[in-house]
Amino acid sequence: MSKRYTIGRDLLIILAASALLALTSTAFAQDRGNPQGDTPLDQQLEAVLLDAGFTGRIESTLESRLGRHVDHQLADLGRLLWFDTLTGLNDDNTCGGCHSPTNGFGDTQSIAIGIENNGVVGPNRTGPRNMRRTPMIINSAFYPRLMWNSRFLSLSGDPFDNGAGLQFPAPEGLSLSSQPHLLTAQAFIPPTERTEVAGFAFPGDNDAIRAEVLNRLNGSPAYRRLFGKSFREVKDGGPITFDMFGQAIAEFEFELTFANAPIDRFARGNRNALSDDEKRGALLFFGAARCVQCHSVAGQSNEMFSDFQDHVIGVPQIAPLITNNTFDGPGMNEDFGREQISGDSADRYKFRTSPLRNIALQPTFMHNGAFTSLDDAVRHHLNVVESALTYSPASQHLAADLSGPQGPIAPVLARLDPILAAPVTLSDMEFAQLMAFVRNGLLDPRARPEILRRLVPRAVPSGNPVLVFEFP
Ligand code: HEC
Ligand code: HEC
Repeated sequence: MSKRYTIGRDLLIILAASALLALTSTAFAQDRGNPQGDTPLDQQLEAVLLDAGFTGRIESTLESRLGRHVDHQLADLGRLLWFDTLTGLNDDNTCGGCHSPTNGFGDTQSIAIGIENNGVVGPNRTGPRNMRRTPMIINSAFYPRLMWNSRFLSLSGDPFDNGAGLQFPAPEGLSLSSQPHLLTAQAFIPPTERTEVAGFAFPGDNDAIRAEVLNRLNGSPAYRRLFGKSFREVKDGGPITFDMFGQAIAEFEFELTFANAPIDRFARGNRNALSDDEKRGALLFFGAARCVQCHSVAGQSNEMFSDFQDHVIGVPQIAPLITNNTFDGPGMNEDFGREQISGDSADRYKFRTSPLRNIALQPTFMHNGAFTSLDDAVRHHLNVVESALTYSPASQHLAADLSGPQGPIAPVLARLDPILAAPVTLSDMEFAQLMAFVRNGLLDPRARPEILRRLVPRAVPSGNPVLVFEFP
């Protein structure tokens, strides 16, 4: 059996590669990179990063905050589950169908396609649309609030600390609070989502769906053996539980921590990690372009380039022609965002500030993928009103089935966050520098698709067909 899916080997290669990268960057950390010492540009950026609370060392806090080493055997079981449609009761989707290694374990689409898909993960994926774009999973171990409207959160403000409770909307509420990490708790949710993986045929509530998923896992000798390697109770004949499923999934997510980007290496002392243009772009990001006011790096943001708060930034409201979700508003072509959770109309159209690490890996941007060009997504922030009023799905080459009647933009702009109210003017050169920083300065090379593709198993324990990934 173990010949058919290579447990651990690919993961080991990645780990060895990561260790090597870590070694080289420590070596670099000694070497200030510039024989004449820091240039004025270096000194300026160093001061700005210090002031913003950025250390470039967040990745190294993972294991101390977990209070243990990452368990590679358990993570590898999580990896197999990630790619196996067995736990999707509709038999045609799994985490990897939306959180794809082709794109930093994020979406290949503007708006996710869940059940009734064509088995392809990439530009040629088809099927009815859900409501929002799938965020990238890499580095999500550090997110204190999850989802586009922050509806899953650790009340302590720290995803590693469940002490104040882990909050989810009804029916789960605070019932998942004993899970050790916000991601372990989160893993209880996707299998129950009918439009994502569960389908509409199976009767019953979330607990009934979870019980059925466990029936499937416990009915699989291959999974019983794999869970038995990590959980003594299973080895001794006891059942696989949902806690175990959640732990395996979260462990895989912990392993997907790729937060050693050029900006981190610069902050740790390697002055050659960024080009001069990227350094000037970083100064704009942390200064005149005011990005850091929301894409923040201090304190509970865990250096993820997000304040994990919700804001209205005037994103055009695109709508799919065929959807299995229910959109908001009289035309059923709007997304009310945070208001769906708070019930407060002052929160209408608010979405969580996107963490920006590794953003260059995404094919589309914003909660609904309204932009397919990273330049345009950033430019939108510089002059929101102009961008929103001149927007058209055609100009972004959106998929044909995303050209449903657009939701109204006037009520969105009426609620625009005051920080973005006045446009910012950048010269072409400044804009290019800002983009060089956003694109390269935040990208950890270990998250590139040519490396992540090694995580796709050739076969999965259930024997179900593996989804077809369209790598570039
Ligand atoms: C149908 C596509 C789809 C599938 C399948 C899917 N997800 Fe997601 N996932 C999404 C979307 C879309 C969101 C954001 C939803 C929202 O904010 O309303 C999301 C959000 C998340 C987040 C929060 C990320 C963040 O930045 O806050 C995590 C963690 C996550 N999913 C894990 C999983 C796991 C684990 C599985 C499998 C057990 C899974 N997902 C299956 C589409 C999917
Ligand atoms: C007022 C707060 C705020 C400011 C200031 C701000 N952003 Fe954003 N940004 C957001 C929010 C909120 C989102 C997600 C909006 C959505 O999807 O509806 C976002 C989304 C993005 C995205 C798309 C990310 C993704 O996952 O799709 C990029 C890129 C981005 N911002 C870059 C920048 C840059 C660069 C600047 C400075 C020029 C900036 N932002 C300034 C709040 C802000």
